[in-house]
Amino acid sequence: MGCLWACALASAGGRQTDAAQRVSLLLRDQAALAGYPGQISCSDVEQAVPIPAVAITGMGRQDSLQIDNLLVTTKAQDTLAAVAGLARALTPDTRIVLLQNGLKVQQEITQQYGAERVFCVSTSHGAWLRAPFDVVHAGRGEAWLGQLGAGDANRQARLQALLKLLPAGALNIRVDEDIGARLWRKLAINCAVNALTVIHDCRNGELLQIPEARQTLSRLCDEISAVLQAVPEAPPMGDLWTQVHQVLNITADNVSSTLQDIRRGRATEIGHLNGYLCELATRRHLHCPVNREVLEQMRVIESRAIRAARASWQ
Ligand SMILES: NC(=O)c1ccc[n+]([C@@H]2O[C@H](COP(=O)([O-])OP(=O)(O)OC[C@H]3O[C@@H](n4cnc5c(N)ncnc54)[C@H](OP(=O)(O)O)[C@@H]3O)[C@@H](O)[C@H]2O)c1
Repeated sequence: MGCLWACALASAGGRQTDAAQRVSLLLRDQAALAGYPGQISCSDVEQAVPIPAVAITGMGRQDSLQIDNLLVTTKAQDTLAAVAGLARALTPDTRIVLLQNGLKVQQEITQQYGAERVFCVSTSHGAWLRAPFDVVHAGRGEAWLGQLGAGDANRQARLQALLKLLPAGALNIRVDEDIGARLWRKLAINCAVNALTVIHDCRNGELLQIPEARQTLSRLCDEISAVLQAVPEAPPMGDLWTQVHQVLNITADNVSSTLQDIRRGRATEIGHLNGYLCELATRRHLHCPVNREVLEQMRVIESRAIRAARASWQ
């Protein structure tokens, strides 16, 4: 996602805007910086786009990096640490734009850094790397930009001002005044679908065809709906089973992001999906045995996948 957005920002539909000229990649450390060729290739553009980069760790106190707009494209579980690691470069006016799956980290960062400066994006674009810094924009979708919390009279102006800096045309970005509702619904669907695709090692659509998967899916939908019904901030979920059914039909051939992570031996975001749902249930003294079982199975599968990947690198 970081490569896709950086590339779209820096090319800005062919226009070199002031903001686009000042795009920088913030890479994890010197090793990542050493492996950066100085440009990003993207299936959307014919020529690789040169973008300057800096390494975050190892940045000394003397470094005077100041960030006006921070687009955070780490996995949910890495996000708090990634933003905290940039504390010296943030000012009280820095806008923080979050692209993570889930909702927990968006709530935490909004609370920690203030509702006026934190923005959330929910996107259906798909991106994967065919090589380091060479991104394929698979599945052109849309992106919705909004802010969490009750809002104030200036929210719309803040959202429109940020939208002008983003590649709204290239990535089909629009404002959603109720991004919270969109993120809650996406969380509910991801909780129902993602882990199950790992447990059954299948594409999305197959969840409806494998009898055992379909049965667990139905029980998960009931449980997720019951938990979210007890969360005052969550919108009414309606018939979650029908919504999940529709998503699975539309994305029948897709391999979920969680299954992709497992197949690459990488940590998944499941702690921020079913894990977060279990936390919400615990806080309200609700039982959610199906989600807990799924989470437990995921922990075993994930640690096995990570161990196997490490062993293959040695
Ligand atoms: N890819 C998609 O199609 C897609 C679609 C919708 C939503 N999303 C959401 O977007 C988020 C990012 O997904 P992704 O697929 O782009 O993940 P990804 O390919 O794993 O990229 C995350 C990047 O963040 C880097 N990173 C982690 N911690 C960092 C730190 N402290 N400082 C600097 N860099 C750090 C990682 O570096 P290392 O490789 O060194 O760990 C990695 O390059 C996720 O929440 C995902 O759910 C993705």
